[in-house]
Amino acid sequence: MIDPEVGFTSDVIRDPKRFVGRTELVRSCIKALNSPLGLIAVYGKRGVGKSSLLRQIQQMALGDHTLVQHAGLMHEMPDKPRSYLTVYYSCDTMITTGEQLLSRLCNDQDDEDGLLRLVPNDGKEIVEFNRTKEVGVGADLKVVNWGTKGIESSKYARVVPGDTAQTFRNFVNSIVTHQVKKRLHRDAILILLDEFDVIKHKTDLGSVIKSMSSPDVKFGICGIGHDLVDLVEDHASVERLLEQGAIHVKPMPHAEALGILERAERLFSDRMRFEDDVKSQIIEISEGYPYFVQLIGKECVTKANEQNADIISKDIYASVLDDIKTGQSFPTLEGAYQRAIGNSEGRQLLLHLLADQPEENAVFDEDVGRVFLRQVRKEAEDLDIQYLDQLLPRLLDAKYGPALTRLPEKPGIYEFPNPVFRLYVRLRHF
Ligand SMILES: Nc1ncnc2c1ncn2[C@@H]1O[C@H](COP(=O)(O)OP(=O)(O)O)[C@@H](O)[C@H]1O
Ligand SMILES: [Mg+2]
Repeated sequence: MIDPEVGFTSDVIRDPKRFVGRTELVRSCIKALNSPLGLIAVYGKRGVGKSSLLRQIQQMALGDHTLVQHAGLMHEMPDKPRSYLTVYYSCDTMITTGEQLLSRLCNDQDDEDGLLRLVPNDGKEIVEFNRTKEVGVGADLKVVNWGTKGIESSKYARVVPGDTAQTFRNFVNSIVTHQVKKRLHRDAILILLDEFDVIKHKTDLGSVIKSMSSPDVKFGICGIGHDLVDLVEDHASVERLLEQGAIHVKPMPHAEALGILERAERLFSDRMRFEDDVKSQIIEISEGYPYFVQLIGKECVTKANEQNADIISKDIYASVLDDIKTGQSFPTLEGAYQRAIGNSEGRQLLLHLLADQPEENAVFDEDVGRVFLRQVRKEAEDLDIQYLDQLLPRLLDAKYGPALTRLPEKPGIYEFPNPVFRLYVRLRHF
């Protein structure tokens, strides 16, 4: 039995040894990390690999250059790369304002990634630790004991009652003085905020980020967006900070996506392999979304295990596809599919027509994944689907997904907000 998780994962990739490709982006990360000023902003579609890149930025910031070596970019590193202590926080939809985000940061008790762990405090015991197995790289601080009083403020960092922004500033300043400089002799603190797009009202955040960014304090934000305006609301306020740091994560080129399968074979120590044809087909259907490659790869290994095989043949792959067609493989995607179509064959057909629109419709690079209702209308007529205008609204309704979103600036053009869902619909049978 081969454990599929050894080669494939649907989790964010933290280990640089499992991170594939993205050479150009790694190059941008090196630049962004080594410029003393400026904000890092990682943006792109869902499932494209943003969070994984953000975790790699964290590793690099800590001085772990495994990925840079793998990417063959060591010669582009400065002689003395800037090094950081890091904070990593994933936002969630419960946070609606900037104030709430700062308050969460000030109270986050995560012992490896939280801000609070770094605030000097008598009641807590912290040790240096390595985030990867290799000795001496990627060292950071970890709390081993929060002490009896736990997370109370300390004599070093002043909590200002009723003023979250000021408390946050005090915390960060005391971290810079006591941990970054005195204790670990780093250049700065790096505060990484993932899922930044879910915060509804972020107007005040732009100005906090702007006023606090300095050679000692760098922010990195990450989230879904077509462009930076989507990610940072008052993007003008931070525009100058973004000169070096805007990092757009796009679907992977096919060669890189193939790299994920090859990397997996290596991680399995060649005890599980894919036939070449199968590899190309997986890459074809995944359209550069690493999430999909990982998902299908894992299913293939599971299926091969069931059949006691160590090579994923065309037959095994065909039976994996069969399971997907009938909705048996991915409960979450299948749930989304059922919710979207809501017991209507007409709507099901419409969803498939939309998902199946060939990529040639993509006029510009950024249009990949968009669908054009006009063309679908004609096909629908040919197929005798009636009441198109009554079938469509549910697909656009947030209560049922939404499977599709309208592009406000472009009437008649729609987008699958979750590209992986679109890929799934294409494989699903109706
Ligand atoms: N560079 C990469 N190499 C291999 N797998 C990747 C890479 N980037 C992302 N993945 C895989 O893709 C999936 C989605 O990645 P994630 O970083 O969570 O995307 P996002 O944050 O954009 O939604 C995960 O299963 C992850 O394992
Ligand atoms: Mg993510």
